[in-house]
Amino acid sequence: MKNCIKIIKKKNANEVGKEASNIVLNEIKKKPSLVLGLATGRTMIQFYRELVKLFKNKKINFSKVKTFNIDEYYGIDWNDLRSYKKYMDKNLFEKIKIKKENINFLDGSKKNWRKECLDYEKKIKEVGGIDLQILGIGRNGHIALNEPGSSFKSKTRKIKLNEETRRANVGFFNSIKEVPRYALTSGIKTIMGSKKILLLATGKEKRDVVKKALKGKITKKVPASILRKHRNVIFILDSNALG
Ligand code: GLP
Repeated sequence: MKNCIKIIKKKNANEVGKEASNIVLNEIKKKPSLVLGLATGRTMIQFYRELVKLFKNKKINFSKVKTFNIDEYYGIDWNDLRSYKKYMDKNLFEKIKIKKENINFLDGSKKNWRKECLDYEKKIKEVGGIDLQILGIGRNGHIALNEPGSSFKSKTRKIKLNEETRRANVGFFNSIKEVPRYALTSGIKTIMGSKKILLLATGKEKRDVVKKALKGKITKKVPASILRKHRNVIFILDSNALG
C-alpha cells in the first residue's frame, strides 16, 4: 500500500514545536472556529510553548477555537495536579484566551465512564468532527492511550494502561504506585475520523517505533501504523526520531 504520510524533518524538538504551531496558526486563519484535538506528554511541551508565543505576539486567535483532549487518567479528577487537565491548564489554557465552554475533556472521575465516553463522541459529532488532531506517540506505538492490541474500530473508552506506559509517565508522579492503572482514551476510529492529523515525535527513544509506524506492517501491535491509511497525515520529526 502506498504510504501517504508526509514527513517533515526538523533539527530538534523546539523546531518540531514551532513547525506544528505554525500549521495550527494557518489552519485557524483558514477556519477561525477550528476544532482542534490535543494531546499531552513531554513531546507536546515545546509545541504548547510555541502556541503561547504566537498568542502573546497576537498572531493567533483562539476565541472561536474548540478543543478536545484525547485522553485522561481514570480515577483522578481535574483538580488533581497529576491529571492531564491540569497539565493542559498549566501549559496552554491558562496562558491563552479561550472560552471555557470550548474546552472539551474526558472526566476521569466519572463512575459512569461509558456515558462519559459516549457524551464525548457525541460532542465531537455535534461540532462536525475534529478538523486537526495533534498526536504524540508512545514508545510502544500507542496513539492517545490506545495501547498495542487496541482495535482499529475502537471508539472512546476506558483502557488498562501497559506497565511500560505507566513507567514512561512516572516522571509526572512521585512513584510508580501513584501512576493510574486506567485511563479514558479517544478510540482509534475516533482519531482516524479527524480531517487532518499531525503526529509529533522527538528523541532517540522514539526512533524504533517511528520506523515501525512508517515502514513496518500495519498492525494492532503498533497502533500508530494505522495512520498510513489516513488521507491527510503529517509526521513532524526531529533528527533523532527519524534516524
Ligand atoms: C502519553 C500521552 C499520549 C502521548 C504519549 C507520548 O502517555 N497520554 O497522548 O501521545 O503518551 O508521550 P511523551 O511525549 O511523553 O513521550
